[in-house]
Amino acid sequence: MSDRYAVIGNPVAHSKSPRIHAVFAGLTLQDMTYEAILAPVDGFEPAVRAFIAAGGRGLNVTVPFKLQAYALAQTRSPRAEAAKAVNTLAFSAAGIHGDNTDGVGLVADLTRNLGVPLAGRRVLLLGAGGAARGVLLPLLEQQPALLRLANRTADKARALQAEFAARAAACRLEAGGFAELAGREFDLVINATAASLADEAPPLPHGLYAAGSLAYDMVYGRETPFLAAARAQGAARLADGLGMLVEQAAESFFLWRGVRPPTAPVLAQLRSA
Ligand code: ATR
Repeated sequence: MSDRYAVIGNPVAHSKSPRIHAVFAGLTLQDMTYEAILAPVDGFEPAVRAFIAAGGRGLNVTVPFKLQAYALAQTRSPRAEAAKAVNTLAFSAAGIHGDNTDGVGLVADLTRNLGVPLAGRRVLLLGAGGAARGVLLPLLEQQPALLRLANRTADKARALQAEFAARAAACRLEAGGFAELAGREFDLVINATAASLADEAPPLPHGLYAAGSLAYDMVYGRETPFLAAARAQGAARLADGLGMLVEQAAESFFLWRGVRPPTAPVLAQLRSA
């Protein structure tokens, strides 16, 4: 019987993960299936246990279960510990292992797909919720010269700064609100707020985009108000989060199967669809 994997969430019908992993499995000749599981909002753990009992080998976890997946995991990777959230579960005789591949997925998309190195650059990360926290450690590990956290509620950004200060090494880690960004310039601005989901843009001062800079929205599939504003304010390049989605999937796939799938053909397929 093929090894079983799935994405679990609520809602989950829109998820592109089954398609992405099916293509990965085909390209790497892995004998596996990958389905979507809709779990009741109050029924995450029973759904996971049922999947394990049925022989399931691993799960991707999406909204709203990433914190519950973190709690359920018996062992966790350092990046999952830092994120305090888990998007990948692996099941074995040793138990339930939790990982978080969102941050490495973002870094892979930026550095490999978009050709934007982070080392020595000035990076602005917008947001201080789960999405921002989830990518913070992998971003710091790339050793940008500056990583500035900016959030509508400035205190939440400062709390994240305090929590990650010891991991910043040579990177200057700063935090504050949006208005305090006036007069600053960045090479990369990443939107990890939930503003795009409400079809809004974070209220940013003008002049943030340095020559040649990239504006990146973790949301994918459309030009969000954040990206439209970045274009109007002089960002040289714009990117949505589709590449991050494919790269985090590839990292989960690698964790489960020990094989690194090629991502370019999948990304091209999704872009043209
Ligand atoms: P997620 O898991 O998507 O990060 P979250 O933990 O609820 O969700 O965090 C949402 C983030 O988006 C927060 O940083 C929030 O700012 P506040 O901390 O001030 O609430 C931010 N956010 C949501 N809507 C926003 C908007 N319209 N403009 C700017 N920031 C917004």
